[in-house]
Amino acid sequence: MNKTGKVYLVGAGPGDPAMLTIEALRLLQTADVVFHDDLVSPGILALIPSETHVESVGKRCGHASVSQQQIHSLMINAAKEGWSVVRLKSGDPLIFGRAGEELDALRSAGIECEIVPGISAAFGAAARAGIPLTDRRLASKVLFLSNHQCAGRHLLDRHGALSEDTTALIYMPGAEYQELAAKLCADGLRPETPCLIVSHATTREQRVHATTLANLAEAPHYPAPVLLIVGSVAFRF
Ligand SMILES: C[S@@+](CC[C@H](N)C(=O)[O-])C[C@H]1O[C@@H](n2cnc3c(N)ncnc32)[C@H](O)[C@@H]1O
Repeated sequence: MNKTGKVYLVGAGPGDPAMLTIEALRLLQTADVVFHDDLVSPGILALIPSETHVESVGKRCGHASVSQQQIHSLMINAAKEGWSVVRLKSGDPLIFGRAGEELDALRSAGIECEIVPGISAAFGAAARAGIPLTDRRLASKVLFLSNHQCAGRHLLDRHGALSEDTTALIYMPGAEYQELAAKLCADGLRPETPCLIVSHATTREQRVHATTLANLAEAPHYPAPVLLIVGSVAFRF
């Protein structure tokens, strides 16, 4: 009987293959199976040997081509075959990547798993935009936020959670910029707060637009994936 394999939750970084960790590259080149999200860039998929089984299990705009339950079953069944399985996620696997659900499913099935961190989109975006996320003169807090509306929840649960010394990293900001700016101001930011819209961070398609919360509604809608960096630190761009 086969020895049970192992599942690695691996971060692919924000897009530029140069931002993969050495461990992520090693695993991609030795895995038997790779299940990847839609946002993993073609340049990174090109590093996987041609004999490896590679399968997209991505979701676009919340529409799943493969359900979360199916993803769990695919990983569990592949590990039970004795295979080395890479579950490849964009950015860092622990940030807005359903890692919690996947780890629960794998552990309940008795499958060994390991997490390999990656560079989250906000870190790639800030680096390429040339701004710090903290600055002891301006920002002492960083908040990772998702504006994904599927659960019907608000961006933040209580007003006043943001303040002038917060840098807010907003993943999945959606298209309703006016509404988003209003929520951020209600949550404690000033309308003059600088804001960067970063699309396709770290790739050749990267675009950055600098604005303020007061003017966010007039900002261009760049192609997804898009991330917003909101806070005083963004004035430098
Ligand atoms: C499901 S979340 C995954 C986040 C990922 N785990 C991370 O750590 O970056 C997907 C969102 O991340 C952001 N994102 C991912 N890659 C990006 C990139 N290269 N440029 C800008 N935003 C990106 C976008 O807001 C996108 O809608």
